[in-house]
Amino acid sequence: MKYNIEVLIPQKEIYRRVLEMGKTISDCYKSKKKILLVGILKGSFIFIADLCRSITIKHEIDFITISSYRNSTFSNKKNIRIVQDLEQNIFGKDIIIIEDIIDSGNTIKKLKHLLFKRKPNSISICCLLNKKETKDISIEANWIGFNIPNTFVVGYGMDYGQKYRNLPFIGKISHF
Ligand code: IMP
Ligand code: MG
Repeated sequence: MKYNIEVLIPQKEIYRRVLEMGKTISDCYKSKKKILLVGILKGSFIFIADLCRSITIKHEIDFITISSYRNSTFSNKKNIRIVQDLEQNIFGKDIIIIEDIIDSGNTIKKLKHLLFKRKPNSISICCLLNKKETKDISIEANWIGFNIPNTFVVGYGMDYGQKYRNLPFIGKISHF
């Protein structure tokens, strides 16, 4: 099958916004002492690499790999499974979850719930993209890079069938 990829958000625009988000986060967390960025793999690896360099206050970084699967064939709700856990103990820390994209909100909601059980001081969510029209559960990210329409996107870390993560822009993919 042939795919068509159209630029939705150009590289320069991503760069500008990520810089801005880093400044905002630095400002909000300047009084905190134990800040930990938690990147969700694989999708967030490029976003977190750029974002952490625009955060001007001291922080640590860790990663978690999760996969989502359907609860049962009769349900649309998905559950998440930790494929590779964090290395760090998050007790008492101020956690910022770094996610590439929020669609239904299910993944992020489940992960937040799971991490809360480990008693961090706080958890906030920073996502690059948010598909605003598709929310079936209420989840508000603390920081959103861009609200986008309900379309499938690739690039800047995000994949379609594990490909296109290397594109420097965010593209809308369709087949013809
Ligand atoms: P949610 O649980 O429905 O919010 O889906 C979020 C997860 O699905 C993200 O972490 C992505 O891995 C994946 N995802 C959702 N939409 C897209 C997309 O347009 N492109 C690539 N991955 C996506
Ligand atoms: Mg993801």
